[in-house]
Amino acid sequence: MAKEKILVTAALPYANGPIHLGHLSGAYLPADIYVRYNRLKNNDIMFVCGSDEHGVPITISADKEGVKPNVIIDRFHTLNKQAFEDFGMSFDIYSRTSIPIHHETAKEFFKEFYNKGILNEKKTMQFYDEKANMFLPDRYVEGTCPNCGNEKARSDECENCGALYEPSELKNPISTISGNSPILKETAHWFFPLGKYQQRLENYIKEMNEKYGWKDNVLQYCRGWFKDGLQDRAVTRDLDWGVAVPLNDSNGKVLYVWFEAVLGYISASKELSKLRGNEDLWKEYWLNKDTKYIAFIGKDNVVFHCIVFPAMLMAWNDSEKTQYVLPQNVPANEFLNFEGRKFSKSRNWGMNVHDFLSRFPADSLRYTLAANLPETRDTDFQWKEFQARNNSELADILGNFVNRTVTFLHKHFEGKVPEKGSLDTIDLEMLELIKEFPPKVGKLFENYKIKDGVNEIMNLARAGNKYFNDSAPWTSIKSDKARCGSTLYVCLQAIYTLAELFNPVIPFASGKIFELLNTAGTDWDSCGNENLPSGHQLNKPSILFTKIEDETIQKAIDDANATSVPKAEPRKEDELITIDDFLKVQLRTAEVISAENVPKSDKLLKIKVKLDNEERQVMAGIAKSYKPEDLIGKKVVVVANLKPAKLMGQESKGMILAVEQADGSLQVLTVNNSVKNGTRAK
Ligand code: 2FM
Ligand code: ZN
Repeated sequence: MAKEKILVTAALPYANGPIHLGHLSGAYLPADIYVRYNRLKNNDIMFVCGSDEHGVPITISADKEGVKPNVIIDRFHTLNKQAFEDFGMSFDIYSRTSIPIHHETAKEFFKEFYNKGILNEKKTMQFYDEKANMFLPDRYVEGTCPNCGNEKARSDECENCGALYEPSELKNPISTISGNSPILKETAHWFFPLGKYQQRLENYIKEMNEKYGWKDNVLQYCRGWFKDGLQDRAVTRDLDWGVAVPLNDSNGKVLYVWFEAVLGYISASKELSKLRGNEDLWKEYWLNKDTKYIAFIGKDNVVFHCIVFPAMLMAWNDSEKTQYVLPQNVPANEFLNFEGRKFSKSRNWGMNVHDFLSRFPADSLRYTLAANLPETRDTDFQWKEFQARNNSELADILGNFVNRTVTFLHKHFEGKVPEKGSLDTIDLEMLELIKEFPPKVGKLFENYKIKDGVNEIMNLARAGNKYFNDSAPWTSIKSDKARCGSTLYVCLQAIYTLAELFNPVIPFASGKIFELLNTAGTDWDSCGNENLPSGHQLNKPSILFTKIEDETIQKAIDDANATSVPKAEPRKEDELITIDDFLKVQLRTAEVISAENVPKSDKLLKIKVKLDNEERQVMAGIAKSYKPEDLIGKKVVVVANLKPAKLMGQESKGMILAVEQADGSLQVLTVNNSVKNGTRAK
C-alpha cells in the first residue's frame, strides 16, 4: 500500500500543573502507540504536542502562588516536557503556546475572521472588580444560585442543580480575587457564529463516521451538542494574559484560550518545520487534502475538536485559497480513575507522571495503562493490578519466554541461531501463528482498539511459552539436538516478532530485545516472517523486567496517601448496608403519563408519573438518552420516598431508576405493563 501522510496531534495540556496518569491514558499513550505503529508501517508522520499556556487556569495558579503566569508556565512546561520524554512519548515536537509563532498564527486566524465579517460583535454585561480593576472571568466569581440556593455557584452555572442563568441573576456575587462584590459593567466581545456551521458540521461528522468509523462515545457527545443547537461563542476575553486581540481598540482583551489553543497544533507544526530547516514542511501535512489527520484527546475536549476547531477551519477554507485539512478521526478516550476516584489536583489524589517514573520503569506503566485504556468507558488504575501486570505478565510471560530461550541458546548452541532443520507440525503451526499477528494487531491499532491490540500481543508471548513447554527442548537436547535446534529456531522468530509488535507499547524493552537479538528490526509488515537466519550470533541476555515487591508498592501507596488532602474517604459504593438501610428506600413502580424537555437544560426531562392513586412530577437527567415521547406509557421504578427537591426551578418528587451503559447512555429500569402502579420492589 502507498505510504500515508499522517498528521497526529495530542491535546496540549495546560502548563499549570504536572500531568498525571489519567492524562496519559486519555490521550497521550494511545497517540504514541498509534504513531509508533504507523512509523513501523513506514507511513509518513508528523506528531505534534505542546503546552497550553494561556487562559484562566494559568492565571488562577499564578494568583494562588502570588507569582506572574510566566513563572508557572516555565515551571510546568519544563516538568511536563521531561515527564513525557521519560515516559517515551515520541513527539516530533513538544512546543508551547507562548512562543511568537503561535501568537502570530492565532492572530492571523482572528484577523481573517474579523476582516471577512465572519465574527459578530456583541455587548454583554460582565462582572467587574473595582478594587482589582479588572473584568472577572466566570471562574473568579462565586455567589448564590438563583435556583437552588447553593452558595458556591459559578457566575453563569450551578454545579449543584445544573441551572444555567445570566450573571445578573446570581445572588450575592463575590470576587474571588478581592472578596469584594463586583459590579456589572458593559463590555464588547467578538463571537464566532457556530450555529451557522451546524448543518455542515453534522454532515462532516456523518461522512467521516461512515468512511472511517468514529467512536460511539464521541458521536454521542456530538449528538448532544447538535441536539441543543450550536450557539455563537465568544472568542475574546477581558484578561491580561494570552494572545492580544489584534485590533486597535481592544486593550485588555485577549483571544479566548480555546480559540487559540487548537491553533497551537498548527503553530507547533510551523515551529517544527523551522527546526528541521524547511519552513514549508508543515504545509505538506496541514494544507494537503490527502493527509490523514487524527486528533487524540480526552473526552472533556470533544466539543472543541469535533465542533469548534473544524468550524474554524471550515470558515478559513471558505474564504481563503489555502485549504486546511480537517480531522479525519477524533478517537477521544473516557477517563482513567485512580483507585476508584477521579484524579484531583486540589485533593492531591492520584500520582504525577514524574513521581511515578522516579519509582517504576516507564514500560511497566505504559503496558499497564495500555492494557486497560478507557476506550469505551472509564477505567481504574489500581496498584495491585499494576504490580500483577508487571510481575505476572511482563516478567513471567514475556520476560520469561525471552530469557529461557536465549539462556538455553547460549548454553547449548554457543548463542547462535540454530539450523532450522526439518519442522514438525507443532513448529509449522507456531510459525503460521506468528504470521497472523502483525495484520491482526495492526487492524486493531488502526481502528483505535489499542487496548485489544496490546492484550493480543501478550497472547503471542503466552503461545510462545506454551510452544516451548510442549516442545520440551530440555529433553530433546539430550536425545535429538537437531530437533531441539528447530524448536529454538522457531522460538527466536517469535521473539523477533514480539520485539517488533511490542515496540509501540514498551519501546524500551523492545530495544533491549533487539539488542540481545543483535539486530535492528525491520518493519511491521515483515516482522512475522522468519527474520533471524541460522548461524546469526546473539548477544548475552540482560534483565528485561524486574519484579515489583509488595513493599515497593506499599511505599508508593503510603507516599501518595500522605500527600493526599483530605485523607481518602472510603468509597461509598464499597460500604456495606444492613437490610434495614435498604428497607428505608421505597422503590415503587409507576407509569409515565407525560414527559417534556426542560428549556436551557440538555440533561433534564420533566416527567409526570402515576403511582397507585397519586400523580407526581419527577425531574430526571435522562434527556440525552430518551426523547420525551419514547417514555410515555413505560412502567418505571421510582424512589418514592426521596426528599422533594427543586431542579431548574421545578419541583421533583422522587427519582427514576436507570442504569448507565458503557457508552454513557442511560436506560430506564422498567417492569412488565401488567404490574400495578405503586407496587413496592424489595
Ligand atoms: O484540557 C486541557 O488541558 C486543554 N489545555 C487542552 C487543549 S487541547 C488543544 F486545544 F490545544
Ligand atoms: Zn443551583
